[in-house]
Amino acid sequence: MHRTHTCGELNINDLGKEVTLAGWVQKARDLGGMTFIDIRDRYGITQLLFNMDENADLCEQARQVSREFVIKVTGKVVERTNKNPKIPTGDVEIKVAALEILNAAKLPPFLIEDETDGGEDLRMKYRYLDLRRNPVRNNLVLRHKMAQEIRKYLDAQNFIEVETPVLIKSTPEGARDFVVPSRMNPGEFYALPQSPQTFKQLLMVSGFDRYFQIVKCFRDEDLRADRQPEFTQIDCEMSFIEQEDILNLFEGMTRHLFSTVKGIQLEEFPRMAYNDAMRLYGSDKPDTRFGMQFTELNDLVKGKGFPVFDGAELVVGINAPGCAAYTRKQVDELTDFIKRPQIGATGLVYARYNPDGSLKSSVDKFYSEDDLKKWAEAFKAEPGDLMLIMAGPTEKVRKQLNELRLEMGSRLGLKDKNKFAPLWVVDFPLLEWDEDSQRYHAMHHPFTSPKPEDIALLDSKPGEVRANAYDLVINGTEIGGGSIRIHDRSLQALMFKHLGFSEEEAQKQFGFLMDAFEYGAPPHGGIAFGFDRLVSIFAGLDSIRDVIAFPKNNSGRDVMIDSPSSISDEQLKELNIKTTV
Ligand code: AMO
Repeated sequence: MHRTHTCGELNINDLGKEVTLAGWVQKARDLGGMTFIDIRDRYGITQLLFNMDENADLCEQARQVSREFVIKVTGKVVERTNKNPKIPTGDVEIKVAALEILNAAKLPPFLIEDETDGGEDLRMKYRYLDLRRNPVRNNLVLRHKMAQEIRKYLDAQNFIEVETPVLIKSTPEGARDFVVPSRMNPGEFYALPQSPQTFKQLLMVSGFDRYFQIVKCFRDEDLRADRQPEFTQIDCEMSFIEQEDILNLFEGMTRHLFSTVKGIQLEEFPRMAYNDAMRLYGSDKPDTRFGMQFTELNDLVKGKGFPVFDGAELVVGINAPGCAAYTRKQVDELTDFIKRPQIGATGLVYARYNPDGSLKSSVDKFYSEDDLKKWAEAFKAEPGDLMLIMAGPTEKVRKQLNELRLEMGSRLGLKDKNKFAPLWVVDFPLLEWDEDSQRYHAMHHPFTSPKPEDIALLDSKPGEVRANAYDLVINGTEIGGGSIRIHDRSLQALMFKHLGFSEEEAQKQFGFLMDAFEYGAPPHGGIAFGFDRLVSIFAGLDSIRDVIAFPKNNSGRDVMIDSPSSISDEQLKELNIKTTV
């Protein structure tokens, strides 16, 4: 028998028991007369004791053992003289009678401890060692628990888990496809799904009524902390429902997860229209853990001779509470921050509301203290606050001020990882203008239904048509998104027309879906959650990488298995792929 117990379960109630444990050596300490070894497995750590006086050979054997060896020991549970209250097994140790080395181990390239000395690259190369560390493993345990609770909740709500294919054809979800050449169909390619969108809609046509799948999706896009080329969605679709039903059901699922996994009872989720989110936060995924909403100042600042404000489409700012005492250097840092090429702002105007009630701005030449008083009123600023103001074209300046707001949130310590601020953003525009291609794109995807009352605007003011689309945002991260779908062939065809598809192109790419709509498609809609993002929010992490067992790095590489990699000429030939080299 390899073991009678795990390394995490023995305690004072087991005194005197003969036990066998197996696991990895966490550390070994040779104190001359005695040797201690900490043995570790997924469940915990237990101390082993080897006594020179009682068994010199065994003690000698124990001295051969070092970090990460896999060993098996048999011995008796005894009370420790030097107890460790920090671990559940800390009251006991095993007086070892027999030791077997099951496998020796090379010295690991970094410390397998909660705080490691290993850099990101090294840990990724030896991910299987990194996964031995508690914090990383705990993230995967959390992920597992969440997946179980999701299945439980959705099953209880009559959802059926259906697997959809991975070798499919391109769906326009906004990113590039990963493609797979087909050997049997020379010159033709499958695409990996960016999401199972069309399949889940077809399942609704099939009458499945409620579908879900915890499913891998693939998108060839630039990577960021919250983006991986392959990631997991909790993908859902329902028939005979309205937007309200979906919001309620999935708010319920999110609440269920917070309650069962984290013991947190969340209040009802607030909702905000897309236009308000953009106006108040300059973002469709506002971090509502803190306030600092935008204040628009056009009416107050124009016509006083300050050309930057006079010429701007929008003058807008935020009030940074308690920051009036910011030094010149601190304000300059903020100016540098927004002038970085990634943000691209031209400048920052500030006005201090000093604790003594006086007001002073960087544009005193144009604005009197009375003017500044009016600003302060508009900002609802208090003495001691600092007003930060930017000007420019509406969309651009909002985006830039959003960056500044988030930066101030970080500087002021307002992004508390233990606070959770969910928000439904609703009433997204159906279409968004793309400067590069000079045409409209679907903001969500082409299957999203316009609000019926806005359909008439499709021809005259396409940019103003609102969609029955919604996102769930938590702490400034887009956790999920979905919509009510088009279920009518003619409306779907009209939509493709507005997206610049010719009839032939639409039929070639999506004929299968439009044809299906002619065989009794029920009204339907759904949502998909980014599972990795949800887990990382629960784990209090900034990056989704640490909640994925084997993630890719920022260049999309798996440095452990060294992928992507070249393939042999024979393979290429078989796949009918001509190389240029
Ligand atoms: P969407 O494209 O909004 O919608 O994706 C749904 C959610 O998936 C997560 N997500 C990602 N997570 C990690 N890495 C990525 N590269 C990545 N891309 C997206 C986000 C996002 O909110 N078919 C529709 C859903 C629907 O309409 O039902 C869809 O895929 O959290």
